[in-house]
Amino acid sequence: MARVIVVGSGIAGLTTALDAASKHDVVLVTKSALGQSNTRYAQGGIAGVMFAEDSVEAHVADTLAAGAGLCDEKAVRVLCAEGPDRIRELVALGVDFDRTDGEFARGREAAHSYPRVLHAGGDATGARIEAALVARIRESAAEILEDTFLVDLVVENGRVAGALLRFPNGTERIILADAVVLATGGAGQLYPYTTNPAVATGDGAAAALRAGAQLTDLEFYQFHPTALATAERFLVSEAVRGEGAVLRNAGGERFLAGIHPDAELAPRDVVARGIAAEMAAQGGLPVVLDATMLGASFLASRFPVIDRAVRASGTDWSREYLPVSPAAHYWMGGVVTDLDGRTTVPGLYAVGEVARTGVHGANRLASNSLLEGAVFGARAARALDTDDPADWPARPARPFAVPVRDPAVDAPPFSRDALQRLMWDAAGLLRDGTGLRRASRVLDAWAGLPLPADGIRSLEDRNLLALGRELVLAALARTDSVGAHARSDSPRSYSPDPASAGAASREVVAAC
Ligand code: SIN
Repeated sequence: MARVIVVGSGIAGLTTALDAASKHDVVLVTKSALGQSNTRYAQGGIAGVMFAEDSVEAHVADTLAAGAGLCDEKAVRVLCAEGPDRIRELVALGVDFDRTDGEFARGREAAHSYPRVLHAGGDATGARIEAALVARIRESAAEILEDTFLVDLVVENGRVAGALLRFPNGTERIILADAVVLATGGAGQLYPYTTNPAVATGDGAAAALRAGAQLTDLEFYQFHPTALATAERFLVSEAVRGEGAVLRNAGGERFLAGIHPDAELAPRDVVARGIAAEMAAQGGLPVVLDATMLGASFLASRFPVIDRAVRASGTDWSREYLPVSPAAHYWMGGVVTDLDGRTTVPGLYAVGEVARTGVHGANRLASNSLLEGAVFGARAARALDTDDPADWPARPARPFAVPVRDPAVDAPPFSRDALQRLMWDAAGLLRDGTGLRRASRVLDAWAGLPLPADGIRSLEDRNLLALGRELVLAALARTDSVGAHARSDSPRSYSPDPASAGAASREVVAAC
C-alpha cells in the first residue's frame, strides 16, 4: 500500500482517488469545496462509442482530424477504445445519462462524424458526473482535505516525495507521500474572458513546472466560440448548435458557411476565429446565436441550465438572438505524461486537463475531455498499484526560462487584470511575433517583482504568471499557425478580414 496525494476533484482526480482508495492510503486535496471544478460546469457531454453504428475507428479519426495532425495517435486509440467501458462504469456509479425510448440520447457536437455525445440532465452533464463521483468518494476510505491549496511539490533526490499544502486556517505543512497525482485542471483565469470557474489558476501545472517536469503544447489554448457576451461569459454549449442553432452577424446573416463546409459545426478553433473575425469586421460587436427555431419548450427541457442563465440575463432565447463571443475554455497543453499518467518526474502523475497525454493535439474534439479524465484517471490508478518510483527513470529536470529583464520595456504595474488583458491581447485567438515578444518582456519584468503577500490570491498569481510566460514562449517558438494557435504573421496566417479569413481557415484545415 502506498500513500498517495491526489490534488483536484474533477472527473480525473475523483476517478483516480476512487479507484485507488480501496488499495492505497489516499489523501484527496481540493482548493475549494469538493465538487468545485471545471467538470461541474461541463455542459455538452461525454463523447464515446456507445452505439452499434458508430466505431472506435471513427472516433479516433474525428479526434485526430480535430487535433490538426498533432495528436499522439497511440493515446487517442487508448482514449477511444477504453472510453465506452469508463462510461458504463459512470452509469454503474449512478450517472443517469439522458435516454430516448430507453436508449442513450445521441448528442451532436462540432467535428464529430456521428452523434456520440452522451448528456445528463440535458446540459448538466458535468454536474451530474461530479455529483455521482463526489457521493462515492465520500463513502470511500479516502481522506478529503477541502479548501486546501497546493503550494508546491516536495522534491527529494530527484523524485516527488509529497506536497506543501496551505490549510484553511492559513498554516502550511508538508504531507509526505509515495506519489502525488495532479488533477488540478486548466488555467482559464489566464484570460479575462473564460468559461472556467475562479479556481482554474493552473496551480498543478505551475507546481510541476517548478519541480522540473516537462510541459508541452502550451501554445494550444482552446477558445470556446459561444460564451454569453456578458461579464460572466457563461458557456452556451456547442450542443445548442448541434441541435440546429446558427450564428449570425450584426446584419442577421450566417457567415460561417463561407469559412468552412461544416459552418457552425466546424472544428472549434475555426468557429472561434470566424467569430472573432466577424466581430472585428463589425467594430467589436458580438455576433449572435439564433436558437429561435428550437422553440421554448425544447430549449427549456434540453438545455435547462443554459435556459435559466439566459433568461436570468434578460433574454428570451426562444424569440431573441443571444449575443455571444469566444472565451478561453480548455488548455490542450500541460504536463507531459505517458499513457498511465506518469510525468517526467518520478513519483509525480498528472491526469485530466493539467496533463498533456497527446489526445488533443492542437485542438480538442468537443466532449473528449470528460472522457480523457475518466480513461486516464483510471489508468493512473492502476499504475499506482504496480509502480515503484525507485525504478522510474528520472529525466533531466526541465530548465526554467530565466526571465531577462529589458529596462526598455514599458511594463504596467502587475495585477491579475493586467496579466489577463496582456494574455488576451497578445496570446489570445490570434497572435503575432511583435505582440508575443512584447508580452514576453512584460511578463519577464513582472516575474522579477516581489508579489504582494496576499495569501492564496498571490500564490495563484505566481502560478498564472509562470504559466503565462511559458505559454507566450511556446507561442513565440511555433512560428506557423496550426489548430488553436493562429499567428497572423505566419505564412498560413489567419486574417481578421472576413473575406480572406475563410480562405485562410480552409487552408489551415486543409494543410492539417
Ligand atoms: C460544450 O458543451 O460546448 C463544451 C463541451 C466541451 O468543451 O467539450
